[in-house]
Amino acid sequence: MTTRRTFRWPSLLTESGRGIAFGGDYNPDQWPEETLDEDIRLMVQAGVNTVALAIFSWDKIEPREGEFTFEWLDHVIDKLGAASIAVDLASATATAPLWLYERHPEVLPIDRYGHVVNAGSRQSWQPTSPVLKEYALRLCRKLAEHYKDNPYVTAWHMGNEYGWNNRYDYSDNALAAFRTWCEAKYGTVDALNEAWGTAFWSQHVNSFDEVLLPRHMGGDSMVNPPQQLDYERFGNDMLLDFYKAERDAIEEICPGKPFTTNFMVSTDQCTMDYAQWANEVDFVSNDHYFHEGESHLDELACSDALMDSLALGKPWYVMEHSTSAVQWKPLNTRKRAGELMRDSLAHVAMGADAINFFQWRQSASGAEAFHSAMVPHAGSDTKLFRGVCELGAALKTLSDAGVQDTELKRADTAILFSAESEWATRSETLPSMKLNHWHDVRDWYRGYLDAGARADVVPLAYDWSGYQTIVLPTVIALSDEDTRRIADFAENGGTVIVGYATGLIDEHFHIGLGGYPGAGNGLLRDMLGIRSEEFNILGEEAEDEPAEIGLSNGLTTRLWQNDVTSVAPDTRVLATYVGTAAADWELDGVPAITSHPHGQGAAIYVGCDLGRHDITHLLKELNTTAPSDERAPDQRPGGGEINAATTTAAATTHDPRILHTIRQSSDGTIRFDFYLNRSKQPVAVNGVEGDPIIAHRCETDAVGYTLNRNAILIAKTSC
Ligand code: GLA
Ligand code: GLA
Repeated sequence: MTTRRTFRWPSLLTESGRGIAFGGDYNPDQWPEETLDEDIRLMVQAGVNTVALAIFSWDKIEPREGEFTFEWLDHVIDKLGAASIAVDLASATATAPLWLYERHPEVLPIDRYGHVVNAGSRQSWQPTSPVLKEYALRLCRKLAEHYKDNPYVTAWHMGNEYGWNNRYDYSDNALAAFRTWCEAKYGTVDALNEAWGTAFWSQHVNSFDEVLLPRHMGGDSMVNPPQQLDYERFGNDMLLDFYKAERDAIEEICPGKPFTTNFMVSTDQCTMDYAQWANEVDFVSNDHYFHEGESHLDELACSDALMDSLALGKPWYVMEHSTSAVQWKPLNTRKRAGELMRDSLAHVAMGADAINFFQWRQSASGAEAFHSAMVPHAGSDTKLFRGVCELGAALKTLSDAGVQDTELKRADTAILFSAESEWATRSETLPSMKLNHWHDVRDWYRGYLDAGARADVVPLAYDWSGYQTIVLPTVIALSDEDTRRIADFAENGGTVIVGYATGLIDEHFHIGLGGYPGAGNGLLRDMLGIRSEEFNILGEEAEDEPAEIGLSNGLTTRLWQNDVTSVAPDTRVLATYVGTAAADWELDGVPAITSHPHGQGAAIYVGCDLGRHDITHLLKELNTTAPSDERAPDQRPGGGEINAATTTAAATTHDPRILHTIRQSSDGTIRFDFYLNRSKQPVAVNGVEGDPIIAHRCETDAVGYTLNRNAILIAKTSC
């Protein structure tokens, strides 16, 4: 069992030390001295109470080998502290100085083709390089010694986005470490040979010295999937070890201050297995950059739902987001009026107690000069800076009202997320290259929102046994143990919804035999009461072939159908494939969606991919979105079976155009209701209880509120 470090949250320099943290990355080393006073004046004006400092300042702190200069940093920290602005101080190791690379080019990472990854960007170092580690730990110790008693330094910000640029390193140091890692994991070469299926393509390993990294093997040659998956885990572990070494080096000298590092949780990326990382920080932090287009708010909420689970319901920290456009996407859309406030408070609505940005002052040069910031190029007499000040005031209102430390109310449903399944779905060896676990999680998350309900997103590795329903969208890899936990959950009365590409492989990427989905030696199949023999994969690429198939309940599948050839006698078929396209693909009448009792609960199988609108339709049919107490007993999934015919009317919790969340104090004395408009049109919200403390872009009349585009309404109830 992994243990988690005790939760610790950085104090502010306010009288009580409490309040919502507000600020951003601060890079004064990019600016002349005069700017510092002006910055602090504007920070105070905006209500900034925290900055993250020195993230990329290694070369300024150690300009030449062994020569440490803290005067400039002392000066900045003193000035900030005097203005009651707390400092989240970086370990400054994210970007090593050029002198170090000149002296030790052997620390540079190697890509899979054997090319050196050059210095000049960030994290141009091998996580397994002993040389780099020595330099990094020396810097950490120097910083710890110098700042251990500094009252203005209230947290340590380790590295920065570990793995952003050195997640995959194929150097000889990595090779040696990988061999050691494999030996520690498998113990014997026999175990490794078995796990990696090395009988295939003459890959038998005689000793751990023959273990290879999945380097480029020529042409389009495919990497052995279990080897690749282990390499993903290994890379995660090496960076986590590096983080821990840095943290421990500082903690030994400077115990008592909380540690964090900024994760990169967003539904398009999965750099690390943050379910593990969350155990190693004192408070979890995230960098979240909005997705342009109509998914903007939903995507933010979905990412945050995972963050809140990683934090185990404790408050968490938005370390970075943007005031407006970024400069690193193919399409860098700006934020519309009110979106800066809306996004920030949406994070609070999802459980965040800190709202910070990259970065305080927009750079005038360098790679990120066109990235928005809190003080834009045009200066402080701008819409944007006025928006930042308005946000500071709103966060102060929320702080004063006591939002800090209240916890996000759990949903009834947990959508399960697994970094390993996300990595596995990126393998180029699967029936379809279009599989993506995270995107399917997001579709289900949005499907719930569109049904007027909200789900949580919970790591597979955590405890989700208290939920009523769990959803497994493309959780492709399931160990025997996880399959057992899932079956036990159903047995004890829970509803399990299993997606089309869930449980096809185990943790070693071995296929469960005897029919799909074969996880748990057939346990998953038995729980579902179905057995499938083949995958039917569709795509526009195949000329003159039907590229979508209809279902008997009116839904449509476009990528993947499981050819279910047998169902148990007590399996209820909720939908089959129908129509000419189904007939053409020999699927006419084949079960597409089924329900099967398992113990006290039910197991629903969604044997094909569905778009998010179709997911919403299905959820309404299944009626798993209504709060449990509003459901008739025979409609409760725990009742043993779902009668789709009698549950077509979905009881929704509220208007699906509104995202509604609740944060409550643990003693139940205060509650905050957050209402966010998901649509572009104004939406009326009636029956709001409590006192409205924030009504951003809302109008009010005798009956209730109208929430305009990008609106958020926050009401407080004291019980
Ligand atoms: C080639 C190879 C086989 C196999 C197939 C797969 O024909 O010779 O070993 O890899 O491709 O389609
Ligand atoms: C990341 C980094 C920041 C900055 C932003 C830009 O989150 O941590 O230093 O580069 O991206 O969006």
